[in-house]
Parts: sequence; C-alpha cells; structure tokens
Amino acid sequence: MAVYQATTSAPVNIAVIKYWGKRDTKLILPTNSSLSVTLDQDHLRSTTTSRADPSFEKDRLWLNGEEEEIKEGGRLATCIKEMKGLRREFEEKNPSEPKLSSYFVHISSRNNFPTAAGLASSAAGFAALVSSLAALYKLPASASELSRIARQGSGSACRSLFGGYVAWEQGSKPDGSDSFAVEIAPQSHWPDMHALICVVSDDKKGTSSTSGMQRTVETSPLLQHRIKEVVPARMAAISKAILAKDFDTFAEITMQDSNQFHAVALDTYPPIFYMNDVSRAIVAVITEYNRIAKEKTGHLKAAYTYDAGPNAVIYTPKENVKEIIELIVKYFPQANTFSDPFGLFGAQGVGAGAVP
Ligand code: ADP
Ligand code: DP6
Ligand code: CO
Repeated sequence: MAVYQATTSAPVNIAVIKYWGKRDTKLILPTNSSLSVTLDQDHLRSTTTSRADPSFEKDRLWLNGEEEEIKEGGRLATCIKEMKGLRREFEEKNPSEPKLSSYFVHISSRNNFPTAAGLASSAAGFAALVSSLAALYKLPASASELSRIARQGSGSACRSLFGGYVAWEQGSKPDGSDSFAVEIAPQSHWPDMHALICVVSDDKKGTSSTSGMQRTVETSPLLQHRIKEVVPARMAAISKAILAKDFDTFAEITMQDSNQFHAVALDTYPPIFYMNDVSRAIVAVITEYNRIAKEKTGHLKAAYTYDAGPNAVIYTPKENVKEIIELIVKYFPQANTFSDPFGLFGAQGVGAGAVP
C-alpha cells in the first residue's frame, strides 16, 4: 500500500507594521495592511506532517502532541477544505493521480518555541499546515495562492509563506481574493540586519490575538485613527526605508508602530495588556542605548518590537548584536528571565524563510 505523507516546516515572522483588526472575521480580512520580517532561524519554526489514508475516519490534528478539535467551519477546517479543493482540481487535470482529495487527513504539528506566547506561533503554524498539505497533494500552487489560504487560518500566517521583508496588502475585494502577502525584498537584500529574541515569558497569553483584536475593533476609537491616518503612510515609508537599507528610518517606524499597537490595546475596553514590567524595562534600555548612539554617531543602533505578548524582538545591524546581548544580560541577569534555550537568540540572520 502506498503511503501518502509529507513533512514541511515554516518560520515565524515578526511584524514591524502590526496587523490588528479584522473587517471580515470569517475570511480574515484585515482593517490595515501590515509588514513583517521572516525570521529564518532554526529555533523558531513549526514543523508539520500531513498524511492521507483511505482508512482514516475523519480529519484530525495534533498540536505539540495534544489533539485539537477541528471545529466545523472553523479555521483549521477551512484551510483543510481549501487545500482539498485545490487537490480536487489537480486530480481533474491529472486523472491518473490517486484520489487523495477524498481521503481524510491526520496532521501532526510541533512548534520548537513557545505556543500562544506572542512569538507568532499561529503564523508559523498555519503556514506549515498549508505547505505540508501542498506537499502531500503535490500541488503546483504559488506562494501567493497558499498565502491566501494560510490567511484564513491566521492572518499573520499569510506572511510566513515568503522569506525576507513581506507586506500583507489588505486588499479591497469582499471575497478576499486580493488580500495576500507579497515580498518587498528578499533577506539577501539586507544581510546586515539581525534579530534578537528575548523571551520574557513563555506563558500562554491571557487574551488570544483573535479575541483581543475583535474587542479592539468593537471599542477602540484610537484604532480608527490608526488605520486611516497612520498605517498607510508608515507602510509606504518603511517599504522605502527597507529598499534603501535606511536603518534609522526602519528603526524609528518599527518602534513607533509597536508603541501604537500597544496603545491601541490599552485603548480597548476593557483594556488589554500584553507587555509587562520587564518588556517596558527593555524599551527603556534600548531607548537609552539609542540616545547615546545618536549623540555619538547621529544614528540609531536598535529597534524593539512586541507582538501580542511580553517578549521582545530587537532588530539591529550585525555589528551591534554582541553589545546588545551583553547589555540585556547586564540589566536582566535573573537567570529565569532568559533561562530556557530560547532565552536569547543571538547572531542569527533574519532569513530567507522559504518553505521547503
Ligand atoms: P501567537 O502569538 O503565538 O501567534 P495566537 O493567539 O495568535 O498566538 O495563536 C495561538 C494559536 O495558534 C494556538 O492556540 C493554536 O490554536 C494555533 N497554533 C499555534 N501553533 C500551531 C501549529 N503549529 N499548528 C496549528 N495551529 C497552531
Ligand atoms: C500582534 O495573526 O495571530 O502579531 O488572524 O486572529 O489568527 P488571527 O491573529 P494573528 O494576529 C497577529 C497580531 C500581531 C501583529 C502581526 O503579526 O502583524
Ligand atoms: Co498569532
């Protein structure tokens, strides 16, 4: 008997212009465009195996060894259904291919970093899910096509189908056909750019991104200002800065956009707090570090950003990586603050993130 199985992995991406808010919760269409850097580090990946077999009685999925329910009409079910649909089209064009689209699938996924802790596990997770089904089904689908499907699992996942600097264009069509990710520049465009991840806590967040942003859309007046007046200009300016390898502008916009995202979370009612005291202390350290650098050289050296969780990601040119690690270790010597293997990732390029 033939075995139909495929394993792929996908990297996380960390946004510098944050996605926060949906205009369509079912299709996952955002209220603003966003832009991220795909972190091609071995430490931050979801690895997913999908298997199709005529003996399976239903679609099932295990996340980190625990079975997750695939709710009818839910995000997992939608992604699996869309992928089976593409396989069906493929089988119609290639009648000698086995009819895998009619089999149920069993899927097992593992994250080698904290899940639901604000390190973009949903992004890597749904990108890996879609790419493993694409490999299982031998689909000739483009990254853009897969991006549109991954988007319906978790919005941020559409950006993890590409490496380097990636924009998710919000699109305007009600069916979402123009809402997917595009590469702004490959990782190789700016090899000097590095990312440090400081794990402040690997606890599961109290408010998931999905429910947090929903509450923001319903209650935050500041969000309306952000999506209309702020983000469009920032998207244009940071894309230009990336293409010009202008770190000062990149850093300034990245930090400002992280700050505004967390301000919008605070403006939500009841408020949401994703950053904690340690996160804020890291902001203070980087701010002071940049102030001194600016005074001496006229340039910034680092940019912090925080997703929906307390963990910091610091973008910096390679020459500063060692210095920043020393700084963080000096001010946050508590072993358990940065204790586990993910504590501080140093000296790795942000990378090409291509899904194998
Ligand atoms: P994060 O900040 O880690 O992205 P979210 O609140 O956005 O947190 O999403 C976390 C959820 O994403 C998990 O509870 C789980 O449902 C889903 N998820 C995480 N990793 C995977 C994975 N590898 N495969 C499938 N789903 C995943
Ligand atoms: C703060 O993509 O996790 O990380 O679409 O509901 O699954 P869902 O939300 P998700 O939200 C990510 C929010 C963010 C910013 C970003 O990645 O752009
Ligand atoms: Co997420």
